Amino acid sequence: MSNNYLNNMNSSDEQELEFHKNTETILVIDDSPTNLEILHDVLGNAGYEVLVEMDGASGIEQVETNPPDLILLDVMMPKIDGFETCRRLQADPSTKDIPIIFITALTEAEEKVKGLNLGAVDYITKPFEQQEVIARISLHLKLRKLNLELDKQKQELEVRVKERTLELSQTLEQLKHTQLQLVQTEKISSLGQLVAGVAHEVNNPIGFISTNLHYANQYIEDLLILVGLFQKNCSNPGSEIEAQIENMDLGHIAKDLPKLMSSMKLGTDTIKGIMQSLRNFSRTDGDKKKLVDIHQGIEATLMILQHRLKAYSKRPAIQVIKDYSILPKIKCYPGQLNQVFMNLLANAIDVLEESMNDSICVNHEEYIPINPQIRIGTTIDKHHVTVTIADNGKGMPESVMNDIFQPFFTTKPEGKGTGLGLSISYQIITENHGGNLQCISSPGEGTEFIIKIPF
Ligand SMILES: Nc1ncnc2c1ncn2[C@@H]1O[C@H](COP(=O)(O)OP(=O)(O)O)[C@@H](O)[C@H]1O
Ligand SMILES: [Mg+2]
Repeated sequence: MSNNYLNNMNSSDEQELEFHKNTETILVIDDSPTNLEILHDVLGNAGYEVLVEMDGASGIEQVETNPPDLILLDVMMPKIDGFETCRRLQADPSTKDIPIIFITALTEAEEKVKGLNLGAVDYITKPFEQQEVIARISLHLKLRKLNLELDKQKQELEVRVKERTLELSQTLEQLKHTQLQLVQTEKISSLGQLVAGVAHEVNNPIGFISTNLHYANQYIEDLLILVGLFQKNCSNPGSEIEAQIENMDLGHIAKDLPKLMSSMKLGTDTIKGIMQSLRNFSRTDGDKKKLVDIHQGIEATLMILQHRLKAYSKRPAIQVIKDYSILPKIKCYPGQLNQVFMNLLANAIDVLEESMNDSICVNHEEYIPINPQIRIGTTIDKHHVTVTIADNGKGMPESVMNDIFQPFFTTKPEGKGTGLGLSISYQIITENHGGNLQCISSPGEGTEFIIKIPF
């Protein structure tokens, strides 16, 4: 290496040189021993590892077994000349990226062009200008390094893009689910507001009907007593009054009126109860948990589902068996919990109805009555309140069990099931209440859902 070259080097070039020393290999393929010797010395002094071969075939072999970082290739060689060697190296995908610099005679312009056309990156001319050879080689090694780096980055980028795309599509899926859940929750909450509004509006008129019924009842009792007294004390009231008594059937009215009043009272009490349940059920949750009676929520939900529990032409009534423990008030989001009770009870009713249809079909019109039941139990231990909702429907196989908490998973016909009930319930119990929701079921054995809420 010339002093001039060394003098011009800055410290980062020195580092590069160190780097060259250990890592970069140059293969020289030339049939002239003199050339080989010169190049070997020049390159060796510059810190490169140098391999030499004297003909194209062994050059190619060397490249395949021990791929160099750069190839210096003589044009004129016996048998396989430099152009052919270059063509073969370029044709092989495993060697085509190794930069090739042709060694040509200064005068052969045609050779230079041909070499470059074949895929060589550059040429050096004989006789060698040492500094030029080193400078060109160093430049092409740098280019190759950059190219390799670029390739690596490109590949990494592709992997990253793929990963990001996957992530994004997963996020998008999740977003869709969340959006649907929000819509569902929003629907329920606006329905809740509507119900609460109606319950509030109905509350006043029902209130004064109920209060006035109380007085009306008293007045009627008094009046009937008075009429009785009249009848007793006026033995001869006159034909006009007697005709009226007979026409209106006073005896019947006197007997019927108190019954009528008490059934009207019963009616208003029922309406009041329903309104109270509706208000309980549709209570809108704020940001903070509230202390509530969980049984009240279950009762309100049952009340709302009452019409689905009753007997009708195709099946007997669904029996609801309650096994409640004494519970303290629990801190929770009551509206959300009611939604969970609603989802679980509605599923139980669905499966009991379906099981009933199946039992009719399976037995070829022979109706084997099953006694459809839903059992609701509550218990308490040191840290949890547990609510169990169990049905004696057909249960589910493991394949269904595995997916029941997945959003949109449903086995019900389109339009009947949304597949959101259990996934929303799961979210409400686990995420919003820090509890857990478990399901125990097997075919023919019914299904039990266990809700555990910490307090
Ligand atoms: N009590 C149950 N008995 C049997 N299968 C049930 C019961 N509850 C839920 N499943 C199964 O879980 C599925 C998902 O329930 P859910 O999330 O509420 O959605 P959907 O009721 O709209 O189908 C149901 O389609 C049903 O297959
Ligand atoms: Mg459901």
